[in-house]
Amino acid sequence: MLQGNGVKGLSEMGLKSLPSQYIQPLEERMINNVVPHQESIPIIDMSNWNDPKVEDAICDAAEKWGFFQIINHGVPLQVLDNVKDATYRFYGLPPEEKVRYTKDNSPSKHVRYGSSFSPQAEKALEWKDYLSLFYVSDDEAAAMWPPACRDEALEYMKRSETVIKRLLNVLMKRLNVSKIDETNESLLLGSKRINLNYYPICPNHDLTVAIGRHSDVSTLTVLLQDETGGLYVRAPDHHNWIHVPPIYGALVINIGDALQIMSNGRYKSIEHRVTANGSKTRVSVPIFVNPRPSNVIGPLPQVLASGEKAIYKNVLYLEYVKHFFSKPHDGKMTIEYA
Ligand code: SIN
Ligand code: FE2
Repeated sequence: MLQGNGVKGLSEMGLKSLPSQYIQPLEERMINNVVPHQESIPIIDMSNWNDPKVEDAICDAAEKWGFFQIINHGVPLQVLDNVKDATYRFYGLPPEEKVRYTKDNSPSKHVRYGSSFSPQAEKALEWKDYLSLFYVSDDEAAAMWPPACRDEALEYMKRSETVIKRLLNVLMKRLNVSKIDETNESLLLGSKRINLNYYPICPNHDLTVAIGRHSDVSTLTVLLQDETGGLYVRAPDHHNWIHVPPIYGALVINIGDALQIMSNGRYKSIEHRVTANGSKTRVSVPIFVNPRPSNVIGPLPQVLASGEKAIYKNVLYLEYVKHFFSKPHDGKMTIEYA
């Protein structure tokens, strides 16, 4: 994997032009269909999260946009700043330290440092490095996650738990699921993965992408982005792309395929992508809140109780995720599997 220094290493070689493996087909480049920045996804103040107006705003955003930003969410700003710093610290390690976490070397299958998304399946590579940490337990994290970022990543994951539960409770209420309990907890938030993404400065950045078009396979995703910008989401017209403006201290929330399936299509998991940047490094830290791999997911019985026809079949979540990782980032295609 690029000798342990990833795309960051390529970027730091001061290349004058983009290596050909990263040149994306014309239709995947971000040159068309961008809506001027006036239109954007909703920004929701979570201070009064159980006010019916706020609950409606959350559910409406999940139905219409599949994406929204939250402010006053209760995760301390310091915790967010710390995990961004920790991301820089990890990527700043010498290549021989980072290479210890690549697919072939990693001490745990739950810890993976890599570049691009699915290099064997992509038409062209993505201009991105990532460290992906699947949470199993505190003990495993303490033993296996890289010390350069372990504590900060864990703290961010734990401090976001309350707002994740609040959001899911609100979203469930509209689906006639009274609350998160033992029967649905593992289905809604049974496993978590945190990614530390690093998008280096890119020569000829218009010719490539940092992440290609995809929707997440999660129940929901909580994303911390820095001030650089570059995340675009598919507009409700299914044609245009809308920029998600960075707001210091905010978290971006998006609905994933698992929740679209469980809600029988009511909540939307929306395609998104990230552009490469010619002058600034970008970091982002998503937490993917997922069902447990061993769960079977399908439209919830409460949603179908009134006689609504199921538009998705039941699938083993593990198989669904495997399917996602076997394909390139080529749009919102995985859901056809359900
Ligand atoms: C992702 O889609 O997984 C990451 C998005 C981002 O970096 O903004
Ligand atoms: Fe994503």
